[in-house]
Amino acid sequence: MREEEGGVRFRAGTIDDAAAIADLHTRSWRANYRGSLSDAYLDGPIEGERRAFWQERLRHPRTGLWTLVADDDTQTLAGFLCLLADHDHHWGTLIDNLHVDPARVRQGVGRALMRAAAEHLLFGLPRRPIYLFVLESNTAVAGFYRHLGGEPAEHLVSTEPDGSSLPVIRYVWPSAAAFAGGTG
Ligand SMILES: CC(C)(COP(=O)(O)OP(=O)(O)OC[C@H]1O[C@@H](n2cnc3c(N)ncnc32)[C@H](O)[C@@H]1OP(=O)(O)O)[C@@H](O)C(=O)NCCC(=O)NCCS
Repeated sequence: MREEEGGVRFRAGTIDDAAAIADLHTRSWRANYRGSLSDAYLDGPIEGERRAFWQERLRHPRTGLWTLVADDDTQTLAGFLCLLADHDHHWGTLIDNLHVDPARVRQGVGRALMRAAAEHLLFGLPRRPIYLFVLESNTAVAGFYRHLGGEPAEHLVSTEPDGSSLPVIRYVWPSAAAFAGGTG
C-alpha cells in the first residue's frame, strides 16, 4: 500500500470493492459521457449493469487483470484504474478503466493512479507498450493523456455497454518505462 499527499491511499482492488467501483463508474459516466452513451442507458440500467460487470470481473479475475483503488479515511473511493497486462500481442497492456470521483478531479488522483500502474508494469513488463481507448468526443481526457506522454495511434469504432458504436482513438506509450517517465 502507498500513501500519497492529501491522505489518499492506493491499494489493489478486490471483490469487496466491486460495489464502490461500480458506483463510481456509474457516477463518472453520468457526469462525463452524457451525449455519447444513450440517455436510456445512463438514466436506466447503468447501475445494475455496472454492478454485475464489476462483481463478475473481480470475483473471477482473468489473467493479467489488476485493479487499483484510491481511497482515504472516509472510505470514499477517490478513483480507480483497471488494466489488463499484456492484453494484446502488438499493443501490449490495456488500461481499460480510469475514473476519478467527479468531485475530486484536478487534485492529482488520476496521475497518481497512472503512475502506480506504470510502477506495477515496470516489474514484469518494462519494455512492452501500453495503450487505451478514448472516445473521440472526450477531448478533455485526450488532453490529460497527451499531458502524460500518450500519443494518438489510430481511430477505431468501439461497441459500448449500451450497445452503441462510438468512434474512439487509441492512445499509446511505447513502453512501461516511457509510460512511467510520462506520468512523472
Ligand atoms: C481523466 C481523469 C482520470 C484525470 O484525473 P484527474 O485526477 O482529474 O487528473 P490530475 O489532477 O491527476 O491531473 C494530472 C495532470 O494532468 C493535467 N490535466 C488533467 N486533466 C486535463 C485535461 N483535461 N487536459 C489537459 N491536462 C489535464 C492536470 O492539470 C495535471 O497537470 P499538472 O499537475 O502537471 O499541471 C479524470 O478527469 C476523470 O476521471 N475523467 C472522467 C472519466 C474519464 O473520462 N476517464 C477516462 C476514460 S478513457
